[in-house]
Amino acid sequence: MSDSMTRILAIETSCDETAAAVVEDGVTILSNIIASQTDLHAQYGGVYPEVASRKHIEVIYAVIERAMSEAYLGFEDLDCIAVTQGPGLVGSLLVGLNVAKGLALARNKPLLGINHIEGHVYSLWLSENHAQISFPILTLVVSGGHTELILMTDHLQYQHLGGTLDDAAGEAFDKVGRLIGLPYPGGPEIDKASEGGNSRAFAFPRAVMDEGYDFSFSGLKTAVLREVQRYDEGRLPVSDVAASFQAAVVDVLVEKTLRAAREYEVTAVHLAGGVSSNRTLRWAMNTRLDVPVRYPPPVLCTDNAAMIAAAAHQHFVLGTRHDLDIDVTPSLQLAW
Ligand code: KG4
Ligand code: ZN
Repeated sequence: MSDSMTRILAIETSCDETAAAVVEDGVTILSNIIASQTDLHAQYGGVYPEVASRKHIEVIYAVIERAMSEAYLGFEDLDCIAVTQGPGLVGSLLVGLNVAKGLALARNKPLLGINHIEGHVYSLWLSENHAQISFPILTLVVSGGHTELILMTDHLQYQHLGGTLDDAAGEAFDKVGRLIGLPYPGGPEIDKASEGGNSRAFAFPRAVMDEGYDFSFSGLKTAVLREVQRYDEGRLPVSDVAASFQAAVVDVLVEKTLRAAREYEVTAVHLAGGVSSNRTLRWAMNTRLDVPVRYPPPVLCTDNAAMIAAAAHQHFVLGTRHDLDIDVTPSLQLAW
């Protein structure tokens, strides 16, 4: 193909999703393949790192082949190979990075290592409303590994306003889900179980509510545990605990986002990451914030490679290229 479109193949293996996608000009998804290992890890109640990397190795070639064939492209049509460099599980990241390096070398394509959190941030550009986005924007990334409040003043320009001091929001959902007897992952299960539950049944704590932009969820988790221990087996009002816990998390997330949105006079709030598909969170953000709130469709909230390609596009057009000797960075941070 000889047009001026930029087509990037991205690979994402930072945790328990083996994903590959082809995205055009950073906004149009040509293919987005996700092989989830969730069911495999459910028996352990969380992600088992060695099992995750072994599974990535098993399926990654098939996932990439499918991403290419669904995009109706050959490798010669690609402008770049992008891959998640971190943060994430070291063994999982290594699988994606090594495959990406091999492809870049064999097909003589430039390589870009991308920050996973930046990928979540750019998942918002994959919606059809991307043309309406103007800076400054406040992005709340809430996932299994992260809770980050990020002020974005331009493309690739970030100011970190706050993050979690202990558990990530999704991690808290998953741990509490387990405490109250729900299957893994707890986030979507609590979302469902809270339907019809009384969110005021339990007065769970809202930690560091009035201070700065950091979050803390471990006290909340302990408070839930204390309640659970008060009940005989089978007697726990699961829906009420789920709804009350969820209300506490949502309250803190909304309150801090609201305060930051006003302080920095942003044009919009973006929600990203697995927890951003939570219905109560979306509803509360929409109701309480005085600027537009945007979030990706559920398939782009959880880990995927399309978002990695969208972020890579921004770096690619600036001329950034990485050497084949880049390494995985399990605790990579955004530049702040
Ligand atoms: O973004 P993601 O796939 O993984 C990380 O990068 O960490 O997010 C997964 C997390 C899990 O903790 C899962 O429980 C949570 O997102 N999650 C939800 C919902 N759907 C997924 N949490 C609350 N409500 C949901 N509906
Ligand atoms: Zn993620």
